[in-house]
Amino acid sequence: MSYYQVEGGFPLRGSVPTQGAKNSAVHLIAASLLAKSEVILENVPAIADVLKMIKILEKIGARVAFDQAKHTLTVDSSYPVNPHILDPTASELRASLSFMGALLSREKEMSIPFPGGCNIGNRPVDLHLKGFSVLGAKTSLEHGLITAKGSRLTGKRIYLDYPSVGATINLTMVAALAKGETIIENSAEEPEIVDFCNFLKKMGAKIKGAGTKRLVIKGVPSLHGARHRVIPDRIEGGTYLIAGAITGGELTVRDIVPYHLEPLLVKLHESGAEINLAKNKVTIKVRGRLKAVNIKTMPFPGFPTDLQNQMIPLLSLAEGTSVVTETVFENRFNLVGELRKMGANIQIEGQSVYIQGVESLTGAKVACTNLRAGASLVLAALAAKGHSEVHDIEHVERGYENMEEKLRASGAKIRRIF
Ligand code: UD1
Repeated sequence: MSYYQVEGGFPLRGSVPTQGAKNSAVHLIAASLLAKSEVILENVPAIADVLKMIKILEKIGARVAFDQAKHTLTVDSSYPVNPHILDPTASELRASLSFMGALLSREKEMSIPFPGGCNIGNRPVDLHLKGFSVLGAKTSLEHGLITAKGSRLTGKRIYLDYPSVGATINLTMVAALAKGETIIENSAEEPEIVDFCNFLKKMGAKIKGAGTKRLVIKGVPSLHGARHRVIPDRIEGGTYLIAGAITGGELTVRDIVPYHLEPLLVKLHESGAEINLAKNKVTIKVRGRLKAVNIKTMPFPGFPTDLQNQMIPLLSLAEGTSVVTETVFENRFNLVGELRKMGANIQIEGQSVYIQGVESLTGAKVACTNLRAGASLVLAALAAKGHSEVHDIEHVERGYENMEEKLRASGAKIRRIF
């Protein structure tokens, strides 16, 4: 099995480009089915989750061409598609849930195996299914299979108990082709939702309120093809900023939207990092030891749960005690055992970790348990004294394109061993 070999203790210097956002691209791929014609997506990252979404799309009947070097994906969904997904690939990633909304909207029926993805909590689908029911679909979840059917889908007012990213995306797709107006109250406000709505609008959807807690969608009879550029990956970009900080380096992360990273930048600044912003890049510089800070994850514009794990090794080296509280997922601290092998002093209490900063971490053999935990272990290894091996990196490669090459170009001593 492949793993990363890392010699820690080298400050990162230089500049790193950011890929297109994984958490936007995967949903846009499913949504391309709504066009029933050709869609071109630019800035699509060549990562495992994207390749899996493409595989599912092809299996149900769409024609897809992915130029991985140019990051351009062409989807032609003018062919008949099978709304019943049997491919077990769908159960390997959470993003496959977006096929629910896309297929129900387009074919008025769908079935899909219950999805997997990162092992970070229960991750139910009740909000998605309740919303489909409000719009007139009959839904079921039996024997691990989710189904929905509705020949007369009609716009309604939906209140989401929680601003779920996935449910907002699915309900927007169904509402886009339903009869009449849908209002989604307490919708998710993440930048990826805004990107998603912008893409649908280019296809002819009538959507207002993207990026707020209230989406208003006027159904139209059909959508058409479009060309769209995926927004930058704030989580990937944020991970590299933390890499710059944890190694005491000076790193510019380019091709990003600084506003999307504000919750992270505020915390890095509070801990003592120097931050310089430009239009589409951020430079971080760290001199000396950082200070402890407290973090609580929340839906956007709060601190992103997907960057919480990466902050834990950084705070493990900061002066003082930090508290990191996770409010979005129930099980997002399963990297702590691995970080302890490197000398981190961390206690877990319920949904919080108490981190007592230590002077240094030491290299160790560690294993990734999920995507962001894996990224976090790479950061810890970059900062640790001596040699580390980071195993089970297929988790990392679900979401980061060429991570080791990007880090190496900035001075990291990291190699992927095949
Ligand atoms: C998406 C992102 C993920 C990110 C998360 C929160 C993708 C592919 N993944 O995941 O990286 O961490 O947003 O920003 O875009 N919930 C329910 N019932 C539901 C749906 C969700 O209780 O029907 C709960 C979840 O268990 C979780 C919370 O709501 O506790 C947030 O989940 P949600 O926003 O739906 O996240 P995802 O769309 O799965």
